[in-house]
Amino acid sequence: MSRILIRNGRIIDPANQIDTTGDLLICDEKIDRIDNQIETEASQTIDATGLIVTPGLIDMHVHLREPGFEHKETIASGTRAAAAGGFTSVVCMANTDPVADSPDVIELIRSQVRKDGATNVFPVGSITKNLDGEGLTDVPALLKAGAVGLSDDGKTVMDAGLMRDVLALSAKYNFPVMVHCQEHNLDEGAVMNLGEMSRRLNLPGSPNAAEDIIVARDIMLAELTGGHLHVLHVSTAGSVDLVRWGKRRGVNVTAEAMPHHFTLTDAAIEEHGTNAKMHPPLRTQTDVDAIIEGIKDRTLDAIATDHAPHALFEKAQGMLEAPPGIIGSETCVPLVFDRLIHTGQLTLSEAIAKMTCVPAKILQIDRGTLSIGAVADVTLIDPEKIATVDVTQSPSKSRNTPFDGWELKGWPLMTIRDGVINQWC
Ligand code: DOR
Repeated sequence: MSRILIRNGRIIDPANQIDTTGDLLICDEKIDRIDNQIETEASQTIDATGLIVTPGLIDMHVHLREPGFEHKETIASGTRAAAAGGFTSVVCMANTDPVADSPDVIELIRSQVRKDGATNVFPVGSITKNLDGEGLTDVPALLKAGAVGLSDDGKTVMDAGLMRDVLALSAKYNFPVMVHCQEHNLDEGAVMNLGEMSRRLNLPGSPNAAEDIIVARDIMLAELTGGHLHVLHVSTAGSVDLVRWGKRRGVNVTAEAMPHHFTLTDAAIEEHGTNAKMHPPLRTQTDVDAIIEGIKDRTLDAIATDHAPHALFEKAQGMLEAPPGIIGSETCVPLVFDRLIHTGQLTLSEAIAKMTCVPAKILQIDRGTLSIGAVADVTLIDPEKIATVDVTQSPSKSRNTPFDGWELKGWPLMTIRDGVINQWC
């Protein structure tokens, strides 16, 4: 019988409103006890003095690239990067090759995870076949195969009728429709935010309106159908306002924010070039401030990474040609601590909720809690550790980040998944 005793940590489990200093015992892959002091025999004892003990973190938005783009990332490398970043569960998007638009591809991903995954992986199926924006996938079959939600992430479903139909199915079968919001007719060829900076750099820009219009449309369609809309990677002040408005009206809408969107502005393009190019783009300080406000007042429910690996040669093609996206698995926790917790924007419990019980609830997965009897997924974080991001040390196959060399305070130290200590953190 395996018994892991975590001693004297600050145990924070927002799902159960726990914030206490004490011991946590894991027995046979399950959370067994939380108490001030537990006296028992253990096969492993971990001294967590000065550390935070949380439910295993969930990243509800990553791109693992397998099948099809294994030169950027694989399930093995991407989940190792996630584990190194303190995550025990990730949700992988459908824009693989072949696209995750059939039960076969969902099963392919799940079997590869069973063989080589360093975290739990919950796959997302696509909304439209081959991400073509034209015909809906077989939604019940995808859900039956294990998809936790549907998304054409990377692209917007431009046909409002199709969006209405998939949201109606969401109301019927109870799953989140995770939407990428970009009115492609308004920002064709755009490589950054439209504004002073894009004009100065003479690069094509995407207006905030391109995002806001789709967010507004989809909230209205969620209201019409009763479906669950989840807005991916919110980047504009307008979107924050619209999601807030939707929630006030009682629409079933949730949303997520990414560390890069609450940390950087479009000025980062000047220094980091293609390593600061992503969809939706980095915006202005007004948008950053609005996103932080939205995170604080729970308009933006979850924090996720949009870990989007691309190879060096792809990012070397210049701003116009390089694919959008940055890696983010290993910089998420330190950015949340450094930018939101240590600055007093969020309490520890509020921040941890956004990476544990909140995404678990959105996705309806049985993770993200330290409830007695729950599967033992646990993350240990040192809030005082100061370290410098060194992208050369990442288990990811890709290196595309603007945060290389940043000194940040607050780092994950260890993850335990299914009661087993993960060696990658
Ligand atoms: O920047 C992005 N990259 N945004 C997306 O929505 C897709 C992602 C990718 O797949 O590279």
